[in-house]
Amino acid sequence: MTSNAEALITLADVHRLYRSDEVETTALRSIDLSIADGEFVAIMGPSGCGKSTLLNILGAIDRPTSGRYLFRDLEIMEQSEAELARLRRDNLGFVFQSFNLIDELTIYENVELGLVYRKWAGKDRRARVEAAMDRVGVAHRARHYPHQLSGGQQQRAAIARAIVGQPSLILADEPTGNLDTENGAQVMDILHALNADGAIGAMRVLTSILRHPTQLPALIALATDAARAHAALRGHLRLSK
Ligand SMILES: Nc1ncnc2c1ncn2[C@@H]1O[C@H](COP(=O)(O)OP(=O)(O)O)[C@@H](O)[C@H]1O
Ligand SMILES: [Mg+2]
Repeated sequence: MTSNAEALITLADVHRLYRSDEVETTALRSIDLSIADGEFVAIMGPSGCGKSTLLNILGAIDRPTSGRYLFRDLEIMEQSEAELARLRRDNLGFVFQSFNLIDELTIYENVELGLVYRKWAGKDRRARVEAAMDRVGVAHRARHYPHQLSGGQQQRAAIARAIVGQPSLILADEPTGNLDTENGAQVMDILHALNADGAIGAMRVLTSILRHPTQLPALIALATDAARAHAALRGHLRLSK
């Protein structure tokens, strides 16, 4: 495989097997995938087809059983855990279906965590945290705790936490899965606006994992290259059973 200087992410022949004493599950089989800077990619497929496994690999949370993963020019399979932690910290933002905010912290403190991990000095954090909260419309809830917010607001706060460090890639695993239609649409609108808005740091790529086919037309319409996104979905995400 020749490496593509344009690509943010390149997967080549990636497999992920889960083994236990009795069973072996092939979660991913020979995935080839290339994601460019600035691309908005949706990965769709039925439950159990490997979407979360793929996302965890892209997020350097999990490692492929075999294959090759390049993040820009970095060979992910050859990196130590410490190097992968640094990659996650400096380049990636995560958004989860269940928001994963910390109950004991205010919204401000939750968002600020994204910078604490990056070892930003306290005095430099405030402006960045406030800008991130403002961007997703939760600034007026800064002093509230997660349980005092609606699901949609919590997910928007989680997006603020993901973007505050200005990552180059946001990985969102079914980010609208716990939301009603209206709030889900709002979250997708925000993700799309962030992707389209080159002004907010270096973040240009979003990978969104969606379950419901009804969400596909809107999302694919937002993709920078719909034909390619479709091809990726058809060609690279295979049923594991
Ligand atoms: N930690 C694990 N141990 C064993 N099997 C797993 C594990 N995680 C996922 N799997 C299996 O891998 C396949 C893909 O799972 P997953 O990536 O969660 O799918 P999706 O997110 O598309 O629903 C499924 O068959 C699942 O049961
Ligand atoms: Mg999943």
